[in-house]
Amino acid sequence: RRLGILISGRGSNMQTLVEASRTRESPYEVALVASDKPDAAGLAWAAAHGVATFAQSPKGMAKTDYEARIDAALRDAGVEAIALAGYMRLLTDGFVQRWRGRIVNIHPSLLPLYKGLDTHARAIAAGNAEAGCSVHVVTEELDGGEVLGQARVPILPGDTPDTLAARVLAEEHKLYPRIVREWLNR
Ligand code: GRF
Repeated sequence: RRLGILISGRGSNMQTLVEASRTRESPYEVALVASDKPDAAGLAWAAAHGVATFAQSPKGMAKTDYEARIDAALRDAGVEAIALAGYMRLLTDGFVQRWRGRIVNIHPSLLPLYKGLDTHARAIAAGNAEAGCSVHVVTEELDGGEVLGQARVPILPGDTPDTLAARVLAEEHKLYPRIVREWLNR
């Protein structure tokens, strides 16, 4: 299966997906890494590691035109399924409908808790004992589709959003490749 990955920045989750795709048992290969930020660090990493890349800034464009460019790039690359990995833009309903059931995302909270931004600060402020990450199917509702897998970490005394984010991120890097593999095998 040909996987496309959308990023906006660092792309550490994208890197783990690319690395996992290069093992014998992988059911997918990464056909394209696309970004809304031409200077995303993850794009340079992908290009340096032999993965096709595409960048399209949405600046000065209607959102539907921007998305049509992304959609065309994915289709030109033969992409069959999409993984969002730190892609910081909302997809339109039209895009989600065209790819219905074929987009997954990783979100840094134990969904359905803390959809949206600032998840770690909110979990700490709420006094939660645990935080974590979720991989879910993307629907028109933000961070709202079926949860395919989760990983949990403790929230420790003295945690800041940054220290907690680092602990969760280490789990994201294990969870995302595993769940994408299961999802594409099912
Ligand atoms: C991750 O925490 C992911 O869960 C969230 O955005 C962050 C992206 O990090 N959606 P990276 O770009 O994969 O390093």
